[in-house]
Amino acid sequence: MSDEPDLDGLRGEEFPWTKGGSIAYLNHASTGPLPARTVRTLGEWDRLRAEPWRVSGADQFGVLARSREACARMIGATPDEIALMVNTTYGMNVAASCLPLRPGDVIVTPDREFPANVYPWMALARRRGLEYRRVPNAGRLADEATLLRALDEPGVRVLSVSWVSFETGLKLDLARLGAACRERGIWFVVDAIQGIATAPIDVHACHVDFLACGGQKWLLSPWGTGFLYVRRELVRQLEPHVVGWMAVRNSEDFTRLCDYELNWFEDARRFEVITLPFQEFAGFNASMALFESVGWERVHALIAERTAQIVDWASRRPGMTLVTPADPARRAGIVSVQVADPVAASARLTSAGIPHSLREGMIRLAPHFYTTPAEIERALAALA
Ligand SMILES: Cc1ncc(COP(=O)(O)O)c(C=O)c1O
Repeated sequence: MSDEPDLDGLRGEEFPWTKGGSIAYLNHASTGPLPARTVRTLGEWDRLRAEPWRVSGADQFGVLARSREACARMIGATPDEIALMVNTTYGMNVAASCLPLRPGDVIVTPDREFPANVYPWMALARRRGLEYRRVPNAGRLADEATLLRALDEPGVRVLSVSWVSFETGLKLDLARLGAACRERGIWFVVDAIQGIATAPIDVHACHVDFLACGGQKWLLSPWGTGFLYVRRELVRQLEPHVVGWMAVRNSEDFTRLCDYELNWFEDARRFEVITLPFQEFAGFNASMALFESVGWERVHALIAERTAQIVDWASRRPGMTLVTPADPARRAGIVSVQVADPVAASARLTSAGIPHSLREGMIRLAPHFYTTPAEIERALAALA
């Protein structure tokens, strides 16, 4: 007998609202619903939090250690390369602010990025006399060849991309971009929130220097959770710009906190700004345990099946333009379609009980591993 959990049973248990059938949730690119086990864990931690003498330091810091381990397993890193963050943007800012950039250095991003990969660079450029450059996309989608050409301009020191575009669902080839950055001595920064959990990633193989991700979308985790991966060699070279009081080894002993010494942790904890939300990370761990019980490969495969269902339909449908690439290698969990009247189409989906997003004039559908083919059918019928 297979030891894979039964998906129908799991769906009912973890997402009890699916039993009613009134909602077909296709908005994971916006906010992921919390699994029942995560809600229970949060409740348990809230009760402990109400009586803090029941929670030991070991309990609290054990939660964070398990979160770092789960993040590392998911992206092919090691726990010492993971700093826990409260969202994606904070991680992007930590990356941006600790790079040793000099006046005149150039930072490159594709055009039409989510603002989390724009404003931190714009502000840094203004503050430090750098140049922030958005590379115009050749067509509607960003593409690797255009980005690679931009890297050969003089002064380029950083390439920062969304792994998966919030707008078009395009998944960039991180291995190709990362290899090109490494060859040229350019730092490679990735906003991964729209890709993590929807497709496999190996940060070492892709030569990623920093990868930031929040837990609130595809990771089905509480608001206030997230992480920043920092490549091990960089952890030791770079100093945090925003300095947490537990970024140093001397703060490990709470009985002698006034023995100040700026002896950074050797691992990525030097970038963390404690106090982090322990109970939210306990919830994060519960969601990660759910994914691991299903198996990341199976999660990715199920998402690919559901998105293929939308892509196949939209590519054949008159009056509808599939904006997301049809090639499965170039997309992940998001499928964006252009329709004649997106506001009316969005209203139809909403009244059919199908949460989705209207982004930049497109309908964005984002199913997860527990979404059923019937739910996709229902969305397509409403869209038609
Ligand atoms: C590409 C991308 N980056 C970042 C975010 C969110 O950033 P944060 O986790 O800081 O809210 C989103 C969506 O909200 C997104 O689509």
